[in-house]
Amino acid sequence: MRLYNNMTCNNVENLKLMIEHASQVLSQEWNENPKLDAMILLAYAIGMYDYTEMFMCKFDKMNLPDDYVTQFESYINRRKLGEPIAYILNRKSFWKNDFYVNYDVLIPRPETEFLVEYVAKNAILMQERGIICDRCDILELGVGSGCVLISILNELRTVALQKARVVSHGVGIDISDVALRVAKRNAENILSSMQDITFLRGNWFDAKMLHRKFDFVISNPPYIPFSEWHVLSKEVKDFEPRISLTDMQDGLDAYRVISANAKQFLKDKGLVVVEVGYDKANAVISIFQNAGFKVKDIVMDLCNIERVVSFTSVDN
Ligand SMILES: C[S@@+](CC[C@H](N)C(=O)[O-])C[C@H]1O[C@@H](n2cnc3c(N)ncnc32)[C@H](O)[C@@H]1O
Repeated sequence: MRLYNNMTCNNVENLKLMIEHASQVLSQEWNENPKLDAMILLAYAIGMYDYTEMFMCKFDKMNLPDDYVTQFESYINRRKLGEPIAYILNRKSFWKNDFYVNYDVLIPRPETEFLVEYVAKNAILMQERGIICDRCDILELGVGSGCVLISILNELRTVALQKARVVSHGVGIDISDVALRVAKRNAENILSSMQDITFLRGNWFDAKMLHRKFDFVISNPPYIPFSEWHVLSKEVKDFEPRISLTDMQDGLDAYRVISANAKQFLKDKGLVVVEVGYDKANAVISIFQNAGFKVKDIVMDLCNIERVVSFTSVDN
């Protein structure tokens, strides 16, 4: 589909016209912010990663890519079909970094940053209280793009550099080989040392070479009940990997497996920390209580939804 025949964006007026036209093309009921989408995609097409800078530039003096109009058209046509911007640009900001993403991984969600913040904060606290003595070991089940584990390790590394403590190591497990490839790519881009992280393919805890104990066992598992699949937006349903969204059952299966097996992989006073769906905290808490855990903390997200729950073993 040609959107901008003979149009060149060598001045701000043409640029504004392109954005207006593209916003109209993108104005569909599922799209909450067509104009913002158009601005972000145009900024990328002209080689700018921050769309807010776009209107401050002198376009007549810039070397714009030869094919930026074609590139923009292709972005808009993909977005029109509902494809998330993160997949179009192969990029999503999460916590303090940009992560590479593709169709093989869930797009990192802002609410998952509460999991990162909670684990990083508690790792530092546990270190200060002498609970973690030498190294902080973290196991993430369902590592996906790696956004959670990599962000935590990076956070702890920054603290370690500033205060000369909290050495940490992470193990990330996923059942999807292709997701692990994305996680490795992100770790190589973001972490300063690949020695801080190990990736294993496995079915939750069932991964070869998983013989250690951990200070944290963490997970943001697929928690959407299959009965709610039909209410998911087109952007999610048609593009994100189903295995990262739902267990095809009641959305609680992973919590049953994690709670039944976590104790043998937890150090004394270790924590299990999980993200939960918008109305699932009570159900997840019952599952863990039945498996011999007690609730340590419940973290609310910005919408006041119980989003992250941490547990300790009743034996400690
Ligand atoms: C909700 S995504 C979370 C991805 C990433 N940790 C995040 O927070 O963005 C769940 C992840 O669990 C993985 N997964 C699903 N079933 C699994 C299983 N049986 N064993 C291990 N990982 C599994 C999926 O491939 C997916 O990467």
